[in-house]
Formats: sequence, structure tokens, C-alpha cells
Amino acid sequence: MIILAIETSCDDTGVAVMKIDEKGNCQLLSNIVSSQVKIHAPYGGVVPNLAQRAHQVNLVPVLELALREAAELRIMNYESRERKDKIKEILKREPVLLEKLSEFLNKYEKPNIDLISITYGPGLAPCLWVGVNFAKALSCAWNVPIAPVNHIEAHIAANWLVLSDGNYNQKRKSGFPILCLVVSGGHTQLILMNPAPRGCGIKYVIIGETRDDAAGEAFDKVAKLLGLGYPGGMAVAEQARQFKVTSSKLKVKFPRPMINTDDFDFSFSGLKTAVLYFVKTLTSQEIKKLTPAICAEFEQAVVDVLIKKTMRAAEKYSVKTVMLAGGVSANNLLRETLRYAAEGKALQFITPRIEFCSDNAGMVAMAGWWHRDKTEKWEDVMAEANLRIN
Ligand code: KG4
Ligand code: ZN
Repeated sequence: MIILAIETSCDDTGVAVMKIDEKGNCQLLSNIVSSQVKIHAPYGGVVPNLAQRAHQVNLVPVLELALREAAELRIMNYESRERKDKIKEILKREPVLLEKLSEFLNKYEKPNIDLISITYGPGLAPCLWVGVNFAKALSCAWNVPIAPVNHIEAHIAANWLVLSDGNYNQKRKSGFPILCLVVSGGHTQLILMNPAPRGCGIKYVIIGETRDDAAGEAFDKVAKLLGLGYPGGMAVAEQARQFKVTSSKLKVKFPRPMINTDDFDFSFSGLKTAVLYFVKTLTSQEIKKLTPAICAEFEQAVVDVLIKKTMRAAEKYSVKTVMLAGGVSANNLLRETLRYAAEGKALQFITPRIEFCSDNAGMVAMAGWWHRDKTEKWEDVMAEANLRIN
């Protein structure tokens, strides 16, 4: 089966083409991401209207690139007028996209695609809708079914993108129950995963989540107040790394919010405020000098809380596997500390390859394959900004 996957839930426009057999051995033929970082950086965060507009502009070129890389583009020698009016209706709120897609459909033959997999939530509503309407238009034009995918499940599915040996089933069978810590710019959740009854995929239960800011959001806000740019997770981690190689003594101390509470919830807004208040006491010269120390202590505080709660949940629910997912799973301190903690308790530890941590359509393709038997007609697919995994 060949899956075309589309991801537009936030500020990355992603299109991937995946070839996958019945056993789940997969080949990612292409996985193109067009980042909008430059557009949003001056604002220090994602501006939904600008993101929506950028998705409209980028989707067709990214699709073209992804199909070309997967060797799935053939120039047409006739003009297709089929379903033109329906496509116009589907994309009536996306005029820029309609124009680009019409040109594309007139130029290229239907590619060899069996399924379109699309992120329909959670995320920014205007962004989700562009992707969903794009998937609907393609589904209508090519007569291919749609598998709507939850963005959080797609992040989790990134852990099954084991391209080196292509082995999908082995890990999945041996590992349940799995506890997945999902840490992204919009979410921080601890999710318990078990095989669903009657072999119908995976059953997810959210056992804890953030009560305010997501972990990635806290990284981004701290980066912003230290003038490290947007998005800030990588920049904060890099500053922290520099601190660790040049100095061993931490001069600053921040709280570990909710680290000892009985539940599995998180709170990062107070931690961010603690950083803000500390920075307010400093001169700009002192901020510059202390930025690596501040980043190191902030990163350590986030990781301490995430690890403590994850490991307590792992014990309580007697899981066999601890898993990471989402953009913040690219954080090296988090990956290695959680690996150490999980393996120290003889648990399997799984984390996505770095290139699949942040938003991309490859992970949407994998989740789409999980739902290949639950496809929908394009008429029925809707975006759901507040979609939950359970
Ligand atoms: O999953 P993702 O790409 O988008 C959402 O679904 O939100 O996650 C993006 C988040 C951003 O907040 C970014 O700063 C954070 O992941 N991030 C990191 C690192 N790389 C990305 N946070 C900490 N350390 C990193 N190395
Ligand atoms: Zn994401």
C-alpha cells in the first residue's frame, strides 16, 4: 500500500509518501517539511492567520516535491476537468490553495496512492482546516479514501518508524503495556497504551497532563525572555550544554512544580515565572553571563519533573515499555535521563529517531496505516482543534 500523508496542525507544512506492506515493513519514500520558523520568529510564537496563509502557499509545492522524490509524478497529456466544481466548493475558503491545486491537478496524472492520511486535530483550527480541505480535495480528485489521524497518535507512531531494519511488528508485540510521555509545544501528557479489545489497534488512556503550559511552550517562553529566538527548545538546550562543559556548579535554583504530588499532572507556568522573576533581578550583562546557567537549571527542572512522574506512573501501571514522543523528545538530557531511569528498572525504552521528533508527515503516514481499515469518505472528514486521544 502507498500512503500519502499530510501534516498542517501548527507551523510546519509536511507531506510524506510511505510504502508499507501488510506486515508493516515500511519505506518512507519521501518526507518533506517546510518550516515557517522565519515567518513567526519576529512575533516570538506562531501567528495562526500567517500560518494558515503559509500552509495555503506551501502545500502544493511540498506535495509536488514529496511525490517527485517518491517517483510518483507523471505529466499528463490531457486536461482533467473531472470534479472541478466539487474541488472549488471544498477549497472555497482557501483561494490561494485552490489556484495552486487546480494548476497541479491539470498538470499531473493521479499518482499511485491507495490512502490519504491527514492530521485532523488537535492543533490550530485555521491550520488544521487548510490541511483537511487539501486532503479532501485530493481525495475527491483522485478517488482515494482518507484516514483521519490524531496528531498526538502520530507523534506516538513516530516510534514505529524504524527505518534501519524496517521492522514494525516486533517492538509493538513485545512492549505492552506502554507508558508514553508526549511532550510537544502544545501538549504534555502521560498516556497509557494497551492493545484494544478484539485486536482493534491501541487503546489510549491519558493518566496525567499539564494544567497550564506544555513543556515545549515553557522552553519557548524561557528562550524568548532570554532573547534566544523562536522556537527556543533547541537554543535553550544548546545553552545548557555549553554550561555543562564549562562549569560544574549551578549558581541558580528553580522550583520543580508538582514533583511530589500524588497525581500524574504537570505544571510549567510557575517554573517559567520563576525564571522571569530571576531574570528581572539581573542587569543585561549579568543575563548574558548567566544565560547558560539559567538554561541548564531550567532544563534540569523540567526533566526532573517529567522523569519523576513518568517513572512513578510506570511503576503504578506495571508497564513493560516507557516511550517518548513529541518535539521535546529531541532533547538529549530528557532522552538519556529517561533511558537511564527506565532501563535501570529493566523496562524497555523507546524514543523516536531525532528526525521524527518534531512535526512531520512521516509519522502521520504510520498512524494512517494503523487506521487503514477505518477510512472515511472525504465528505465526512472535519478538523477538530480540541481532539483528544481518549
Ligand atoms: O511536536 P512539535 O514539533 O510541535 C507541536 O506539536 O507542538 O514540538 C515543538 C516543540 C517546541 O516547543 C520546541 O521548542 C520543542 O518542541 N523542542 C525542544 C527541542 N527541540 C524542539 N525542546 C527542548 N529541547 C529540544 N532539543
Ligand atoms: Zn506536534
